Amino acid sequence: MRVTHLAVAAFLALPLAATAADAGPGPEPLPISLTSVLPAVASATPTSARFRLNEATTIAAGAGALPVADLLAAAWRPATGFPLPISTTTDTNTIRIGLGEPVDSEAYRLEITEEVIDLRASTTAGLVNGVQTLRQLLPPEIESSTVQNRQWTVPGGLIEDRPRFAYRGAMLDLARHFHTPDEVKRYIDQISRFKINHLHLHLSDDQGWRIRIDGWPRLTEVGGAEGTGVRGIGGGYLTEADYRDITAFAAERNVTIVPEIDMPGHVNAAQVAYPELTCDGVAPRPRIDIRVGYSSLCAGKEVTYRFAEDVIRELAAMTPGPYLHIGGDEAHSTPHADYLTFQKRVLPLVRKYGKIPIGWQEIAAAGEPGTVVQYWNREVDLPEHAGRFILSPADKTYLDMQYDLLTPGGLHWAGTTEVDDAYSWDPGRLLPHVPEERVLGVEAPLWSETLRDLGDIEFLAFPRLVAIAELGWSPRSDWDSFRRRLGTYGPRWTRQGVRYYSSPRIPWS
Ligand code: ACM
Repeated sequence: MRVTHLAVAAFLALPLAATAADAGPGPEPLPISLTSVLPAVASATPTSARFRLNEATTIAAGAGALPVADLLAAAWRPATGFPLPISTTTDTNTIRIGLGEPVDSEAYRLEITEEVIDLRASTTAGLVNGVQTLRQLLPPEIESSTVQNRQWTVPGGLIEDRPRFAYRGAMLDLARHFHTPDEVKRYIDQISRFKINHLHLHLSDDQGWRIRIDGWPRLTEVGGAEGTGVRGIGGGYLTEADYRDITAFAAERNVTIVPEIDMPGHVNAAQVAYPELTCDGVAPRPRIDIRVGYSSLCAGKEVTYRFAEDVIRELAAMTPGPYLHIGGDEAHSTPHADYLTFQKRVLPLVRKYGKIPIGWQEIAAAGEPGTVVQYWNREVDLPEHAGRFILSPADKTYLDMQYDLLTPGGLHWAGTTEVDDAYSWDPGRLLPHVPEERVLGVEAPLWSETLRDLGDIEFLAFPRLVAIAELGWSPRSDWDSFRRRLGTYGPRWTRQGVRYYSSPRIPWS
């Protein structure tokens, strides 16, 4: 009896011990250095030099670099209390920001000596990436909104950095719960720190419609009213002015907005507002539950295509970025032949209005060349011929999956996803028939069924989104290095008031 007990205890202790070792005090926190940056830089050569920021430090912005200089000055003035004036003359004790080499569009070169910090790139996108790196080279107190009385020292050396993938995305679902423009902007500011360069906005679904379309005003009058959203909590919508303000704020941070209108499924809110969009012309009841797959546009009615074209035309006109996402997922109540008829007419409309179409992986069945396919679910068929991919495997990148069954918020239909699960895969090898050259990049979607406020968004996104950002940016992955670097980021989030999940897998400092 006793022996059995001990044996059971020993058996149980094994996995527990393994977890405890994983979670334990772990290695010493990393000092801030060129190699502690998130996502990891492609190449770093540290030196013993130190650049000391002080009252007299200036920022010298070359032609075209002024908005990036403003971004850095705005980030560093509050906590340092230094004026950090922006000029065009270069001197010592200066942070020089200028367009020039290197040539890759998002690459940058950052050199730090005793006298100057020199940031160069061939595009403003590259300069913004360099600024995001530089921000992590000052201590966490730099994130304070009030003056901190301390030394501000940047470690010296040379960083030469460029992304592995061109598309590094996050997605926010405004349909199941509306998030205000200020919340969206705060999320953009947070994700851009990790060189995430696309924010996909899921703007319509069964429970709500969140972007004003002039030609079809009831979409938002009805679909964005109070009482829409899951459980009827979270009405609201973006006006064109809101949307343009968000895209401009995002552009300053090298983030491109990718708008999505989900069709031909996920359209109940549109059909409540316009019953002619159903096959029988009868308005369905508004829905505030989380079921999927019951609504469909009617492929045999011309009004369907007038609606789709008007929405695409208006949305394309307000969108500066190159992409327009038309959903296409979980159209379980659209007969397959109708699905193909619909997509073969609608995908070319996206091109007609100057945008590159993106669709969830189901859209690959339409075989429309030039469509970017967003992979999300290994249970759904994927034709081998499909072209370029954005990878969002639900069991790795869906930020609304719970960390474990005890953490608050989120769902777990694709399993639970701890930080190491989110980090442990290779986007270049996920799909056996898709070589790395056909992978445009990665995206971490955050669906809003259980979300209410910004704290809920941040808790599910951070720190997992950083894992996806590193897989998208850095040339190689290394879990032990990643967890140590991530551990140093906690105090930065704390200073910013970000509600992050303090995963037991990470040695937080
Ligand atoms: C999806 O999660 N339905 C794309």
